[in-house]
Amino acid sequence: MYQAYPVQKANLFGEFIRNHGKLNEQQIQKGNKMCQYTINLDNISYAYEGAKVLKGLSLKLSPGEHVGILGNSGCGKSTLLKIAAGLYEPDSGEVTVAGERVPEKIRRQVALVMQSNCLFPLSIRENICCGHAIPEKRLWAACESARLARWIESLPEGLDTPVGERGSQVSGGQAQRIQIARAICKDAPVILLDEPVSSLDRDTGESVLHALKKLTQGRTVIHVTHHPETLEGNYLVYRMEGGRLNYG
Ligand SMILES: Nc1ncnc2c1ncn2[C@@H]1O[C@H](COP(=O)(O)OP(=O)(O)OP(=O)(O)O)[C@@H](O)[C@H]1O
Ligand SMILES: [Mg+2]
Repeated sequence: MYQAYPVQKANLFGEFIRNHGKLNEQQIQKGNKMCQYTINLDNISYAYEGAKVLKGLSLKLSPGEHVGILGNSGCGKSTLLKIAAGLYEPDSGEVTVAGERVPEKIRRQVALVMQSNCLFPLSIRENICCGHAIPEKRLWAACESARLARWIESLPEGLDTPVGERGSQVSGGQAQRIQIARAICKDAPVILLDEPVSSLDRDTGESVLHALKKLTQGRTVIHVTHHPETLEGNYLVYRMEGGRLNYG
C-alpha cells in the first residue's frame, strides 16, 4: 500500500522563507490539505482551439482511492486523464499528482493505459520496458498477467518483434495488452485507465480486468469507462457532464 505523499512543499516553502520561518494557520491548513490527496485537480479548465472541454473541474483522490468516470462520448474524459498524467497542461487550475506539480515529474509517478493505440515504432520489449532495465522474469510475469505471453511465445522474434508505426503490426487488443504490461512493469503509485479493455473480446477482457484488479490494489486509480460493470471493487463513480464531474 502506497503511503500519503509528503506535503507539496514548493509554494509553502517559499512562503516559509519569506515569512522568516512562520506560517499562519491558513497556510498550515493548506499544507495539510495538499498532503491529504495523491491526485488533486483543482478548478481545471481546458480548451482545444477555443472549444472549451473542461470548465472548472475539480477532483481529489486520497492515497489508494479508486474513482470511476462515466460520461458521453466527447465529454472530455480522455482529456482529463491526459491532464492528470502530465501530458497536457491545463489552461487554468492546479494539478498535483503524488506530490508533484511539474508535468515531467508527474509523468514518472503515473502509469497510463490509453484508449487509442499509443505504441512506439519499436519492439514489444521496448514498448513494455520504456528504457528501464526490467528483469526478464518480471517482464514475463507482466506479459502473463496482461494475457500476452502465449501470443509472444508464438512469434518467431518473440519479445523483439517490432510493433510497427503506431502499432500497425499488432491488433488493437494486443496493443492494449502491451500498454497494460507496461503499466504493470512501471510499478507506479498512480494508475490512469482509459477504457483499458475496450478492444478485447469478452474472455480476454475479463482476464485482463482480473490482472488490473491486482495491479490497482493499494494504488490510486482513475478508471474511465463506458461500462460501469467493469468497475469492480471500491470505486467512487462520477459522471462527466458540461465539463465537470458529478458524483453518482
Ligand atoms: N487533439 C484534439 N484537437 C481538437 N479537439 C479535440 C482533440 N482531442 C479531443 N478533442 C475534442 O475534445 C472533446 C473531448 O474529447 P475527449 O477525447 O476528451 O472525449 P472523451 O470523453 O474521452 O470521449 P470518448 O468517450 O469518445 O473517448 C471532443 O469534442 C473532441 O472532439
Ligand atoms: Mg476518450
